[in-house]
Amino acid sequence: MKIIVKKDYEQVSQAALEIMLDIIKNKPNAALGLATGSTPIRLYELMQEDHLKNHTSYKNIESYNLDEYYGLSDDNPQSYYYFMWHHLFNKLDIDKKNIHVPSGEGNIEDVTKHYNELLQQHPRDIQLLGLGSNGHIGFNEPGTSFQSTTHYIALKQSTIEDNAKLFFNGDISAVPTHAITMGIQEIMDAKKVLLLACGERKAKAVKGLIEGEVTEELPASILQKHQDAIIIVDEAAASLL
Ligand code: GLP
Repeated sequence: MKIIVKKDYEQVSQAALEIMLDIIKNKPNAALGLATGSTPIRLYELMQEDHLKNHTSYKNIESYNLDEYYGLSDDNPQSYYYFMWHHLFNKLDIDKKNIHVPSGEGNIEDVTKHYNELLQQHPRDIQLLGLGSNGHIGFNEPGTSFQSTTHYIALKQSTIEDNAKLFFNGDISAVPTHAITMGIQEIMDAKKVLLLACGERKAKAVKGLIEGEVTEELPASILQKHQDAIIIVDEAAASLL
């Protein structure tokens, strides 16, 4: 694992932009594994700015998102599909048919089977990740098998509380209790993994991820075993290292 500590959120986002652009420019049909949450928002803004200014092309880029809340349709403003359009895709020249987010609706078996097959057929050149304060990646909560593929999962109460900030008025009762998430095995299958974490609230999970034992109790710790994982954190998130 390569660990990079930057001063603040802005610098973390700038460093992440360089890595993303390096892939997108060198491989115009790259498959990007993308993430939601508040952490990648600035990176996505920078990707939009770069596209408008430098015309970096996304015409043949494919995207595969990590997860989706179960029970929310694509057009629900709180869904991750909507989030991705709002924060990234709406200003890029990406082809809608190349955008993939697991469905938050329909028969769970069908949805997970479909996404597993899709991921198997389309290896990701890079997987972007945020970090849950309990060490989750995607929505793979502590205790999830390292061999997991796309599955349906019950969110921990702490995750529901953390994520309420992205809901209208921080309304915790609006946060779905379940989600569909790419599995840990599928995250590890990406050629490169780029994890971003900022703020003091992530410090404990960052310490476990970098210095702790590799354990399913801290899902992100599996990245210690990835051949090309880059962890970029700000000083606050690195404060316990
Ligand atoms: C959610 C997402 C994760 C994300 C996490 C952290 O749980 N499913 O992919 O990493 O939130 O969110 P934030 O970046 O807002 O701290």
